[in-house]
Amino acid sequence: MKYKKALIFGTYDPLHYAHIRLFERASKLAREVYACTESDEIIRKNKKRDPFTTEIERVKDLRGIKYLKNVFIRTEKINRDFYVKMLKPDVLILGSDWKGKKWEGEGLGVKIIYLPRTEGISSTDIRNGLGISKIKTIQSKIQDCCKAVRGFIG
Ligand code: CTP
Repeated sequence: MKYKKALIFGTYDPLHYAHIRLFERASKLAREVYACTESDEIIRKNKKRDPFTTEIERVKDLRGIKYLKNVFIRTEKINRDFYVKMLKPDVLILGSDWKGKKWEGEGLGVKIIYLPRTEGISSTDIRNGLGISKIKTIQSKIQDCCKAVRGFIG
């Protein structure tokens, strides 16, 4: 095992298998892996959208993952640097999509390791996909109602 502690910041809204794969790979690099999600308030502010899952749900989901030693929530007041100072991780781990992008964790003075992103899945796709299926369900219910009304009127 190369490192003692790894910390992984992310949103996980919602959590999916690519996140779990990221934690699994991180657990092969570090003895202790910690994840930090974002508060509902931070999602609203930074991503300009409502959270899809609540921060409590995200923490509960993450706490169920066997590769993680502990889970935290980043808030406006308790930010990334707080957790870095408290945990003193040897590495921060990110998916490779973050390579070359501006990321606030870069100024924290901790080595960053980029692991290849898992293709074909993202929280955005899940959020949008579910949105579409909900709309389709509502549409088909409206169509059923219209049919019923037409049948009634004759
Ligand atoms: N990640 C990954 N492979 C994916 C999706 C995410 O390796 N298919 C990694 C990201 O690179 C990041 C971490 O998981 O380091 C947390 O990602 P997050 O932004 O929460 O997940 P996304 O699915 O990318 O979410 P969104 O679509 O809302 O940006």
